[in-house]
Amino acid sequence: MIIITGASDGLGLQVAKLYKEAGKKVINISRRKSEFTDSNILCDLSNEEEIKGAVSEILKMDEKIEAIINCAGVLSVQKLEKITGAEFDRLLSVNVKAAILLISNLIKKIKQDEADIVNVASSVGLKGYLDQAVYGASKWAMRGFSANLQLELKGTKSRVISFCPGGFKTKLFEKATGVDNTADGSEWMRAEDVALALKHTLDLPKNMEVSEIIINRKS
Ligand SMILES: NC(=O)c1ccc[n+]([C@@H]2O[C@H](COP(=O)([O-])OP(=O)(O)OC[C@H]3O[C@@H](n4cnc5c(N)ncnc54)[C@H](OP(=O)(O)O)[C@@H]3O)[C@@H](O)[C@H]2O)c1
Repeated sequence: MIIITGASDGLGLQVAKLYKEAGKKVINISRRKSEFTDSNILCDLSNEEEIKGAVSEILKMDEKIEAIINCAGVLSVQKLEKITGAEFDRLLSVNVKAAILLISNLIKKIKQDEADIVNVASSVGLKGYLDQAVYGASKWAMRGFSANLQLELKGTKSRVISFCPGGFKTKLFEKATGVDNTADGSEWMRAEDVALALKHTLDLPKNMEVSEIIINRKS
């Protein structure tokens, strides 16, 4: 089975659709249901107890995990002088802590099943971005987690892919700012196409680990 966090919307939803079309069993972990999954584990990923509950449900399924795709995320756009501890905690808990706790709680099974891991970071995790100090910090941290996992899983069959796309059209920006940027005619990538790149990367032979993939919008 393929486990995807945040398969109820945006990139995760498109990745789930591709795996369903490929005949795979897909499990979504998010607060809302996904239309392209066999099973939805409803979970607020900012809550450690709920993550533990999600892990129990996965273990109960007693099925081989092929891949875990940590895709759930939230954006925050704010002036440097307006950053609050609450916003920092909210962002880091969903964008980084949840992925670390999920993998930590499942690591025995991940090794047993030789499961692959994809951590969705962002091209914002490779540079600075005005008004995105907190989001940027969370994405740099996600890349750091991937580097650490690659070391932890050295000598196993589990691949760890740090996936860093540039801007693509979803409701992520609108949820953070109230401004819908999906219909502005810009050259932002389509979530469907970014999903294809993610799945293609995982579809490569098991002895090929794309340790990091950076996808920029063509300028
Ligand atoms: N869009 C871009 O331009 C872009 C660029 C680079 C990287 N990324 C990254 O790509 C990933 C997907 O982004 P997207 O644009 O597809 O966003 P999206 O359309 O807003 O989808 C976000 C997903 O995360 C889940 N999520 C958010 N908060 C959650 C919580 N507290 N608990 C559980 N699930 C939660 C949402 O599910 P529920 O609401 O159902 O909980 C939803 O399925 C994110 O990590 C984002 O940072 C996006």
